[in-house]
Amino acid sequence: MSDALIQTTLAGSVLTLRINRPDKKNALTQAMYSAMADAVEAAATDPAVRVLLFTGTDGVFTSGNDIKDFLNAPPVSTDTPVARFMKALAVFPKPAVASVTGLAIGIGVTLLLHCDLVYVGKNTHLQMPFVNIGICPEYASTYLLPRIMGHQRAAELLLFGDPFTAQTALEYGLVNAVLDDNAVDTYAQQRATRLAQQPPNAVRVTKQLLKRWRQDVIEEAIVVEAEHFIQMLREPEAMEAMTAFMEKRKPDFSRFS
Ligand code: COA
Repeated sequence: MSDALIQTTLAGSVLTLRINRPDKKNALTQAMYSAMADAVEAAATDPAVRVLLFTGTDGVFTSGNDIKDFLNAPPVSTDTPVARFMKALAVFPKPAVASVTGLAIGIGVTLLLHCDLVYVGKNTHLQMPFVNIGICPEYASTYLLPRIMGHQRAAELLLFGDPFTAQTALEYGLVNAVLDDNAVDTYAQQRATRLAQQPPNAVRVTKQLLKRWRQDVIEEAIVVEAEHFIQMLREPEAMEAMTAFMEKRKPDFSRFS
């Protein structure tokens, strides 16, 4: 197997995109987003690909954006690899399936909101700690989350930023099924393969219709959230939170008003 940080494999018309940086809990760098954006953009028009499947490595999906990357090279515009990847996923015309185990943090949860089918291991730690690191949610999650689970549940998950369980994710409608951790990859692969055997045009049109009625709002939400996100990433609250993470200490927000 290649040691690329993003690995792609095509089998049975399913393109599997594997996040492969286990020593950093699959934290995503700009280079990794670029590779993911390239793969998703190419898959959108490649007739050999009928279904996209995201998965992780060594029992970990992803710990989210690489915090060191956030500190060293914060985005200055929306013209970034992560934006290109998320846009490609948000408008992807074929089904996207996710196989999630271990960790799904930050953008690791956000990207699930743009998938069609999500299967998750029962011991998965899910978390959206945007507020905890002094920033705000991204890629239309402030629009999609309340619609999926209701305002109060979304507010609790986002404002406290605490980890939540796979069972909670299922109860809140965020995922399709919770499975034993070691069964998730096989099950997700089977579902993706079965989907790839369905009539391809009927699948594509149905997926696109399912998303069509809210696509304009999603695209607007992505732009508005990004304005806040880019600004907040440079502000003292985020600096304190991210520096504390790198220094392996607890952040102190007491001096901020
Ligand atoms: N960005 C950069 N590095 C990360 C990372 C991230 N998002 N998540 C994990 N790592 C690194 C750690 O710094 C550590 O590196 P080191 O071995 O050089 O010290 C390595 O991956 C292993 O992580 P560690 O924290 O030791 O593992 P853990 O099992 O104790 O905890 C997490 C795992 C994911 C709970 C913890 O690493 C964490 O909270 N990460 C940050 C998650 C986050 O806030 N993501 C951004 C959301 S917007």
